[in-house]
Amino acid sequence: MRSVMKCLVTGGCGFIGSEFIRQGLQSRDMQIVNLDLLTYAGNPENLRGVENHTGYTFVKGDIADSSAVADLIDNSFDLIVNFAAESHVDRSIEDASAFLRTNVLGTQALLDAARRAGISRFIQVSTDEVYGSLGEDGQFMETTPLSPRSPYSASKASADHLVMAAHHTHGMETVITRCSNNYGPYQFPEKLIPLTILNALQGKDIPVYGDGLYVRDWIHVADHARGVWQAALEGKPGAVYNMGGDAERANLEVVRLILEYTQQPESLIKHVTDRKGHDRRYAMDFTLIREEIGWEPKVVFEQGLKDTVDWYRTNGEWLDNVTSGAYQEYYEKMYGGRKTIS
Ligand code: NAD
Ligand code: TYD
Repeated sequence: MRSVMKCLVTGGCGFIGSEFIRQGLQSRDMQIVNLDLLTYAGNPENLRGVENHTGYTFVKGDIADSSAVADLIDNSFDLIVNFAAESHVDRSIEDASAFLRTNVLGTQALLDAARRAGISRFIQVSTDEVYGSLGEDGQFMETTPLSPRSPYSASKASADHLVMAAHHTHGMETVITRCSNNYGPYQFPEKLIPLTILNALQGKDIPVYGDGLYVRDWIHVADHARGVWQAALEGKPGAVYNMGGDAERANLEVVRLILEYTQQPESLIKHVTDRKGHDRRYAMDFTLIREEIGWEPKVVFEQGLKDTVDWYRTNGEWLDNVTSGAYQEYYEKMYGGRKTIS
Protein backbone atom coordinates (compact mmCIF):
# COMPACT_ATOMS: atom_id res chain seq x y z
CA MET A 1 0.00 0.00 0.00
CA ARG A 2 1.00 3.64 -0.56
CA SER A 3 2.04 5.75 2.41
CA VAL A 4 -1.32 7.54 2.40
CA MET A 5 -4.09 5.06 1.86
CA LYS A 6 -6.86 5.95 -0.61
CA CYS A 7 -10.27 4.51 0.06
CA LEU A 8 -13.49 4.63 -1.96
CA VAL A 9 -16.52 4.64 0.34
CA THR A 10 -19.95 4.29 -1.23
CA GLY A 11 -23.10 5.48 0.53
CA GLY A 12 -21.04 7.76 2.77
CA CYS A 13 -23.84 10.31 3.13
CA GLY A 14 -26.04 7.75 4.87
CA PHE A 15 -26.30 6.95 8.57
CA ILE A 16 -23.48 4.42 8.99
CA GLY A 17 -21.27 5.47 6.06
CA SER A 18 -21.03 9.03 7.40
CA GLU A 19 -19.86 7.76 10.80
CA PHE A 20 -17.34 5.52 9.03
CA ILE A 21 -15.92 8.48 7.08
CA ARG A 22 -15.77 10.69 10.18
CA GLN A 23 -13.82 7.99 12.03
CA GLY A 24 -11.48 7.40 9.08
CA LEU A 25 -10.56 11.06 8.69
CA GLN A 26 -10.21 11.62 12.44
CA SER A 27 -7.97 8.71 13.21
CA ARG A 28 -6.04 7.92 10.06
CA ASP A 29 -3.93 9.73 7.52
CA MET A 30 -5.90 8.82 4.42
CA GLN A 31 -7.78 10.03 1.41
CA ILE A 32 -11.45 9.15 1.21
CA VAL A 33 -13.61 9.51 -1.89
CA ASN A 34 -17.33 9.24 -1.09
CA LEU A 35 -19.59 8.07 -3.93
CA ASP A 36 -23.24 8.66 -3.04
CA LEU A 37 -26.40 9.11 -5.09
CA LEU A 38 -28.03 11.29 -2.41
CA THR A 39 -31.30 9.39 -2.30
CA TYR A 40 -33.87 10.33 0.36
CA ALA A 41 -31.56 8.59 2.89
CA GLY A 42 -28.38 10.38 1.86
CA ASN A 43 -27.78 13.78 3.37
CA PRO A 44 -24.53 15.77 2.96
CA GLU A 45 -25.31 17.38 6.33
CA ASN A 46 -24.50 14.01 7.93
CA LEU A 47 -20.89 14.90 7.13
CA ARG A 48 -20.91 18.45 8.42
CA GLY A 49 -17.50 19.32 9.73
CA VAL A 50 -15.62 17.01 7.39
CA GLU A 51 -16.66 18.43 3.98
CA ASN A 52 -13.63 20.70 3.96
CA HIS A 53 -11.14 18.14 5.20
CA THR A 54 -8.21 17.93 2.76
CA GLY A 55 -8.48 14.13 2.70
CA TYR A 56 -12.14 14.14 1.66
CA THR A 57 -13.77 14.25 -1.80
CA PHE A 58 -17.46 13.87 -2.59
CA VAL A 59 -18.71 12.45 -5.90
CA LYS A 60 -22.42 12.32 -6.60
CA GLY A 61 -23.24 9.16 -8.52
CA ASP A 62 -25.04 5.85 -8.74
CA ILE A 63 -23.18 2.62 -7.93
CA ALA A 64 -25.45 0.81 -10.39
CA ASP A 65 -24.33 3.06 -13.26
CA SER A 66 -21.55 0.76 -14.43
CA SER A 67 -19.92 3.19 -16.85
CA ALA A 68 -19.81 6.03 -14.30
CA VAL A 69 -18.41 3.60 -11.72
CA ALA A 70 -15.78 2.36 -14.19
CA ASP A 71 -14.78 5.96 -14.94
CA LEU A 72 -14.35 6.77 -11.27
CA ILE A 73 -12.47 3.68 -10.14
CA ASP A 74 -8.82 3.53 -11.13
CA ASN A 75 -5.82 1.85 -9.61
CA SER A 76 -5.12 4.77 -7.29
CA PHE A 77 -7.55 3.24 -4.76
CA ASP A 78 -6.29 0.79 -2.16
CA LEU A 79 -9.69 -0.41 -1.07
CA ILE A 80 -13.42 -0.06 -1.62
CA VAL A 81 -15.96 -0.14 1.19
CA ASN A 82 -19.52 -0.56 -0.01
CA PHE A 83 -22.18 0.89 2.28
CA ALA A 84 -24.48 2.16 -0.50
CA ALA A 85 -27.84 0.43 -0.33
CA GLU A 86 -31.54 0.76 -0.07
CA SER A 87 -31.81 -0.20 3.57
CA HIS A 88 -35.40 -0.12 4.84
CA VAL A 89 -37.45 -3.34 5.00
CA ASP A 90 -40.84 -1.58 4.89
CA ARG A 91 -39.93 0.22 1.66
CA SER A 92 -38.76 -3.06 0.12
CA ILE A 93 -42.14 -4.60 0.89
CA GLU A 94 -43.84 -1.75 -0.99
CA ASP A 95 -41.52 -1.87 -4.01
CA ALA A 96 -38.37 -4.00 -4.38
CA SER A 97 -37.08 -2.56 -7.66
CA ALA A 98 -34.64 0.02 -6.23
CA PHE A 99 -33.34 -2.67 -3.86
CA LEU A 100 -32.44 -4.95 -6.73
CA ARG A 101 -30.87 -2.16 -8.73
CA THR A 102 -28.69 -0.69 -5.99
CA ASN A 103 -28.05 -3.61 -3.67
CA VAL A 104 -27.53 -6.32 -6.30
CA LEU A 105 -26.59 -4.68 -9.62
CA GLY A 106 -24.74 -1.86 -7.87
CA THR A 107 -22.57 -4.28 -5.91
CA GLN A 108 -21.71 -6.22 -9.07
CA ALA A 109 -20.90 -2.98 -10.95
CA LEU A 110 -18.45 -2.05 -8.16
CA LEU A 111 -16.89 -5.52 -8.15
CA ASP A 112 -16.42 -5.45 -11.94
CA ALA A 113 -14.88 -1.98 -11.93
CA ALA A 114 -12.61 -2.88 -9.02
CA ARG A 115 -11.35 -6.01 -10.72
CA ARG A 116 -10.72 -4.21 -14.02
CA ALA A 117 -8.81 -1.47 -12.22
CA GLY A 118 -6.72 -4.04 -10.34
CA ILE A 119 -8.11 -3.21 -6.90
CA SER A 120 -8.34 -6.38 -4.93
CA ARG A 121 -9.52 -5.28 -1.49
CA PHE A 122 -13.34 -4.99 -1.37
CA ILE A 123 -15.39 -4.68 1.82
CA GLN A 124 -19.10 -5.42 1.64
CA VAL A 125 -21.19 -4.04 4.50
CA SER A 126 -23.96 -6.55 5.02
CA THR A 127 -26.54 -7.35 7.64
CA ASP A 128 -27.69 -10.04 10.07
CA GLU A 129 -31.00 -10.09 8.17
CA VAL A 130 -29.47 -12.28 5.43
CA TYR A 131 -29.62 -15.20 7.90
CA GLY A 132 -33.40 -15.03 8.25
CA SER A 133 -35.27 -15.23 11.52
CA LEU A 134 -34.60 -17.00 14.85
CA GLY A 135 -36.96 -18.53 17.38
CA GLU A 136 -36.49 -17.92 21.10
CA ASP A 137 -33.07 -19.56 21.24
CA GLY A 138 -29.80 -19.53 19.34
CA GLN A 139 -27.66 -16.99 17.53
CA PHE A 140 -26.54 -16.49 13.94
CA MET A 141 -22.99 -17.62 13.19
CA GLU A 142 -20.99 -16.87 10.03
CA THR A 143 -21.65 -20.49 9.00
CA THR A 144 -25.44 -20.19 9.37
CA PRO A 145 -26.98 -20.73 5.91
CA LEU A 146 -28.43 -17.62 4.33
CA SER A 147 -32.23 -17.62 4.46
CA PRO A 148 -33.46 -14.09 3.77
CA ARG A 149 -37.18 -13.45 4.10
CA SER A 150 -37.78 -9.85 2.98
CA PRO A 151 -37.00 -8.26 -0.39
CA TYR A 152 -34.40 -6.11 1.43
CA SER A 153 -32.61 -9.05 3.02
CA ALA A 154 -32.90 -11.11 -0.18
CA SER A 155 -31.16 -8.32 -2.11
CA LYS A 156 -28.41 -8.07 0.52
CA ALA A 157 -27.94 -11.86 0.52
CA SER A 158 -27.64 -11.77 -3.29
CA ALA A 159 -24.94 -9.14 -2.98
CA ASP A 160 -23.09 -11.27 -0.41
CA HIS A 161 -23.14 -14.20 -2.82
CA LEU A 162 -21.79 -12.01 -5.64
CA VAL A 163 -18.98 -10.76 -3.39
CA MET A 164 -18.09 -14.34 -2.43
CA ALA A 165 -18.20 -15.29 -6.11
CA ALA A 166 -15.70 -12.52 -6.88
CA HIS A 167 -13.41 -13.93 -4.20
CA HIS A 168 -13.65 -17.54 -5.37
CA THR A 169 -13.68 -16.85 -9.12
CA HIS A 170 -11.36 -13.89 -9.47
CA GLY A 171 -9.31 -14.14 -6.29
CA MET A 172 -10.43 -10.74 -5.03
CA GLU A 173 -9.56 -9.98 -1.39
CA THR A 174 -13.12 -9.55 -0.25
CA VAL A 175 -14.38 -9.18 3.32
CA ILE A 176 -18.06 -9.26 4.26
CA THR A 177 -19.26 -7.78 7.55
CA ARG A 178 -22.72 -8.65 8.84
CA CYS A 179 -24.03 -6.48 11.63
CA SER A 180 -27.15 -6.24 13.73
CA ASN A 181 -29.51 -3.23 14.07
CA ASN A 182 -27.69 0.09 14.40
CA TYR A 183 -28.81 3.18 16.30
CA GLY A 184 -27.21 6.56 17.00
CA PRO A 185 -27.00 10.10 15.62
CA TYR A 186 -27.94 10.95 12.00
CA GLN A 187 -30.25 7.94 11.45
CA PHE A 188 -33.12 8.76 9.12
CA PRO A 189 -36.39 8.61 11.09
CA GLU A 190 -37.94 5.71 9.22
CA LYS A 191 -36.33 3.00 11.38
CA LEU A 192 -37.73 2.08 14.81
CA ILE A 193 -35.45 4.07 17.13
CA PRO A 194 -35.26 7.45 15.38
CA LEU A 195 -38.94 7.30 14.38
CA THR A 196 -39.95 6.60 17.97
CA ILE A 197 -37.70 9.39 19.28
CA LEU A 198 -39.12 11.86 16.75
CA ASN A 199 -42.72 10.98 17.54
CA ALA A 200 -42.08 11.01 21.29
CA LEU A 201 -40.43 14.44 21.10
CA GLN A 202 -43.50 15.67 19.24
CA GLY A 203 -45.95 13.91 21.59
CA LYS A 204 -47.27 11.81 18.69
CA ASP A 205 -48.49 8.19 18.70
CA ILE A 206 -45.77 5.53 18.47
CA PRO A 207 -46.66 2.77 15.97
CA VAL A 208 -45.60 -0.64 17.28
CA TYR A 209 -46.06 -3.45 14.80
CA GLY A 210 -48.11 -6.41 16.03
CA ASP A 211 -47.48 -7.54 19.61
CA GLY A 212 -44.21 -5.58 19.85
CA LEU A 213 -42.38 -8.68 21.08
CA TYR A 214 -40.10 -8.92 18.03
CA VAL A 215 -36.48 -8.95 19.17
CA ARG A 216 -33.54 -7.13 17.64
CA ASP A 217 -29.91 -6.90 18.78
CA TRP A 218 -28.95 -3.22 18.97
CA ILE A 219 -25.48 -1.81 18.33
CA HIS A 220 -24.29 1.78 18.47
CA VAL A 221 -23.24 3.06 15.04
CA ALA A 222 -19.80 4.10 16.36
CA ASP A 223 -19.08 0.50 17.42
CA HIS A 224 -20.19 -0.82 14.03
CA ALA A 225 -18.14 1.70 12.04
CA ARG A 226 -15.05 0.94 14.12
CA GLY A 227 -15.57 -2.76 13.41
CA VAL A 228 -15.85 -2.17 9.67
CA TRP A 229 -12.54 -0.25 9.76
CA GLN A 230 -10.85 -3.10 11.61
CA ALA A 231 -12.30 -5.71 9.27
CA ALA A 232 -11.34 -3.59 6.25
CA LEU A 233 -7.73 -3.24 7.35
CA GLU A 234 -7.14 -6.54 9.14
CA GLY A 235 -9.78 -8.99 7.89
CA LYS A 236 -8.72 -12.15 6.09
CA PRO A 237 -9.45 -12.37 2.34
CA GLY A 238 -12.71 -14.22 1.76
CA ALA A 239 -13.81 -13.84 5.38
CA VAL A 240 -17.24 -13.07 6.78
CA TYR A 241 -17.40 -11.36 10.19
CA ASN A 242 -20.53 -11.03 12.30
CA MET A 243 -20.89 -8.00 14.55
CA GLY A 244 -23.45 -7.43 17.26
CA GLY A 245 -24.12 -5.15 20.19
CA ASP A 246 -24.81 -7.78 22.85
CA ALA A 247 -28.11 -6.00 23.47
CA GLU A 248 -31.12 -8.08 22.53
CA ARG A 249 -34.29 -6.16 23.31
CA ALA A 250 -37.96 -6.56 22.39
CA ASN A 251 -39.32 -3.60 20.43
CA LEU A 252 -41.69 -2.69 23.28
CA GLU A 253 -38.76 -2.48 25.72
CA VAL A 254 -36.94 -0.10 23.38
CA VAL A 255 -40.01 2.07 22.89
CA ARG A 256 -40.68 2.20 26.66
CA LEU A 257 -37.10 3.34 27.33
CA ILE A 258 -37.43 6.12 24.77
CA LEU A 259 -40.70 7.24 26.36
CA GLU A 260 -38.96 7.27 29.75
CA TYR A 261 -36.02 9.33 28.41
CA THR A 262 -38.36 11.80 26.70
CA GLN A 263 -40.72 11.86 29.72
CA GLN A 264 -43.72 10.90 27.63
CA PRO A 265 -46.56 8.59 28.72
CA GLU A 266 -46.85 4.95 27.62
CA SER A 267 -50.35 5.78 26.38
CA LEU A 268 -48.63 7.03 23.17
CA ILE A 269 -47.90 3.39 22.25
CA LYS A 270 -50.28 2.15 19.56
CA HIS A 271 -50.10 -1.44 18.40
CA VAL A 272 -50.76 -1.34 14.66
CA THR A 273 -51.12 -3.84 11.81
CA ASP A 274 -48.02 -6.03 11.69
CA ARG A 275 -45.33 -5.90 9.01
CA LYS A 276 -45.76 -8.64 6.39
CA GLY A 277 -43.36 -11.55 6.88
CA HIS A 278 -42.00 -9.93 10.04
CA ASP A 279 -38.76 -11.63 11.23
CA ARG A 280 -39.26 -12.59 14.90
CA ARG A 281 -35.78 -12.40 16.32
CA TYR A 282 -32.17 -11.66 15.34
CA ALA A 283 -29.13 -12.39 17.53
CA MET A 284 -25.45 -12.49 16.65
CA ASP A 285 -22.51 -14.66 17.66
CA PHE A 286 -19.48 -12.44 17.02
CA THR A 287 -16.80 -14.64 18.55
CA LEU A 288 -14.86 -14.78 15.27
CA ILE A 289 -14.16 -11.05 14.91
CA ARG A 290 -13.45 -10.80 18.64
CA GLU A 291 -10.88 -13.61 18.52
CA GLU A 292 -9.31 -12.86 15.12
CA ILE A 293 -9.30 -9.07 15.11
CA GLY A 294 -9.95 -8.06 18.69
CA TRP A 295 -13.16 -6.11 18.03
CA GLU A 296 -16.06 -5.96 20.42
CA PRO A 297 -18.84 -3.44 21.06
CA LYS A 298 -18.19 -0.86 23.78
CA VAL A 299 -21.35 1.23 24.08
CA VAL A 300 -23.86 0.01 26.67
CA PHE A 301 -27.32 0.09 25.09
CA GLU A 302 -29.21 2.11 27.70
CA GLN A 303 -26.50 4.79 27.82
CA GLY A 304 -26.15 4.87 24.02
CA LEU A 305 -29.90 5.20 23.65
CA LYS A 306 -30.09 8.00 26.21
CA ASP A 307 -27.30 9.87 24.37
CA THR A 308 -29.09 9.30 21.07
CA VAL A 309 -32.32 10.76 22.45
CA ASP A 310 -30.30 13.79 23.62
CA TRP A 311 -28.71 14.11 20.18
CA TYR A 312 -32.12 14.21 18.47
CA ARG A 313 -33.41 16.65 21.09
CA THR A 314 -30.55 19.05 20.42
CA ASN A 315 -30.40 18.63 16.63
CA GLY A 316 -33.86 19.89 15.76
CA GLU A 317 -32.61 21.67 12.66
CA TRP A 318 -31.19 18.45 11.18
CA LEU A 319 -34.43 16.66 12.04
CA ASP A 320 -36.55 19.44 10.50
CA ASN A 321 -34.50 19.31 7.30
CA VAL A 322 -34.79 15.57 6.82
CA THR A 323 -38.48 15.44 7.69
CA SER A 324 -39.64 18.29 5.48
CA GLY A 325 -41.35 17.50 2.18
CA ALA A 326 -41.25 13.86 1.09
CA TYR A 327 -41.08 12.49 4.65
CA GLN A 328 -44.65 13.56 5.45
CA GLU A 329 -45.87 11.78 2.32
CA TYR A 330 -43.89 8.68 3.29
CA TYR A 331 -45.31 8.69 6.81
CA GLU A 332 -48.87 8.94 5.59
CA LYS A 333 -48.34 6.18 3.02
CA MET A 334 -46.67 3.81 5.49
CA TYR A 335 -48.75 4.46 8.60
CA GLY A 336 -51.98 6.10 7.42
CA GLY A 337 -53.44 2.77 6.30
CA ARG A 338 -52.34 0.73 9.34
CA LYS A 339 -55.16 -0.19 11.68
CA THR A 340 -54.65 0.37 15.40
CA ILE A 341 -55.09 -3.06 16.97
CA SER A 342 -54.88 -2.06 20.66
P1 NAD B 1 -28.87 4.53 4.78
O1 NAD B 1 -30.15 4.19 4.13
O2 NAD B 1 -28.85 5.51 5.92
O3 NAD B 1 -27.84 5.12 3.72
C1 NAD B 1 -27.67 4.58 2.44
C2 NAD B 1 -26.79 5.53 1.65
O4 NAD B 1 -26.58 4.95 0.36
C3 NAD B 1 -27.44 6.90 1.41
O5 NAD B 1 -26.48 7.91 1.59
C4 NAD B 1 -27.89 6.84 -0.04
O6 NAD B 1 -27.93 8.11 -0.68
C5 NAD B 1 -26.83 5.93 -0.65
N1 NAD B 1 -27.28 5.25 -1.86
C6 NAD B 1 -28.46 4.59 -2.04
N2 NAD B 1 -28.53 4.12 -3.30
C7 NAD B 1 -27.36 4.46 -3.92
C8 NAD B 1 -26.81 4.24 -5.20
N3 NAD B 1 -27.50 3.57 -6.14
N4 NAD B 1 -25.59 4.73 -5.49
C9 NAD B 1 -24.89 5.42 -4.56
N5 NAD B 1 -25.36 5.68 -3.33
C10 NAD B 1 -26.57 5.19 -3.01
O7 NAD B 1 -28.23 3.16 5.21
P2 NAD B 1 -27.42 2.78 6.51
O8 NAD B 1 -28.34 2.46 7.60
O9 NAD B 1 -26.32 3.76 6.71
O10 NAD B 1 -26.79 1.39 6.03
C11 NAD B 1 -25.55 1.35 5.33
C12 NAD B 1 -25.23 -0.08 4.98
O11 NAD B 1 -25.17 -0.87 6.15
C13 NAD B 1 -26.26 -0.74 4.07
O12 NAD B 1 -25.59 -1.52 3.13
C14 NAD B 1 -27.08 -1.61 5.01
O13 NAD B 1 -27.59 -2.74 4.35
C15 NAD B 1 -26.02 -1.99 6.04
N6 NAD B 1 -26.53 -2.27 7.39
C16 NAD B 1 -27.38 -1.40 8.00
C17 NAD B 1 -27.83 -1.66 9.30
C18 NAD B 1 -28.74 -0.70 10.02
O14 NAD B 1 -29.20 -1.04 11.12
N7 NAD B 1 -29.00 0.48 9.50
C19 NAD B 1 -27.42 -2.84 9.93
C20 NAD B 1 -26.55 -3.72 9.27
C21 NAD B 1 -26.11 -3.41 8.00
P1 TYD C 1 -36.49 -1.43 11.70
O1 TYD C 1 -35.90 -0.31 12.49
O2 TYD C 1 -37.26 -1.14 10.47
O3 TYD C 1 -35.31 -2.46 11.43
P2 TYD C 1 -35.38 -3.98 10.83
O4 TYD C 1 -36.75 -4.31 10.43
O5 TYD C 1 -34.46 -3.89 9.67
O6 TYD C 1 -34.88 -4.83 11.94
O7 TYD C 1 -37.45 -2.23 12.67
C1 TYD C 1 -36.97 -2.74 13.91
C2 TYD C 1 -38.11 -3.47 14.58
O8 TYD C 1 -39.13 -2.51 14.94
C3 TYD C 1 -38.81 -4.47 13.67
O9 TYD C 1 -39.23 -5.58 14.45
C4 TYD C 1 -40.02 -3.71 13.15
C5 TYD C 1 -40.38 -2.81 14.32
N1 TYD C 1 -41.00 -1.50 13.96
C6 TYD C 1 -42.18 -1.12 14.61
O10 TYD C 1 -42.73 -1.84 15.46
N2 TYD C 1 -42.72 0.11 14.28
C7 TYD C 1 -42.16 0.92 13.35
O11 TYD C 1 -42.73 2.02 13.07
C8 TYD C 1 -40.95 0.50 12.71
C9 TYD C 1 -40.30 1.36 11.69
C10 TYD C 1 -40.40 -0.72 13.06
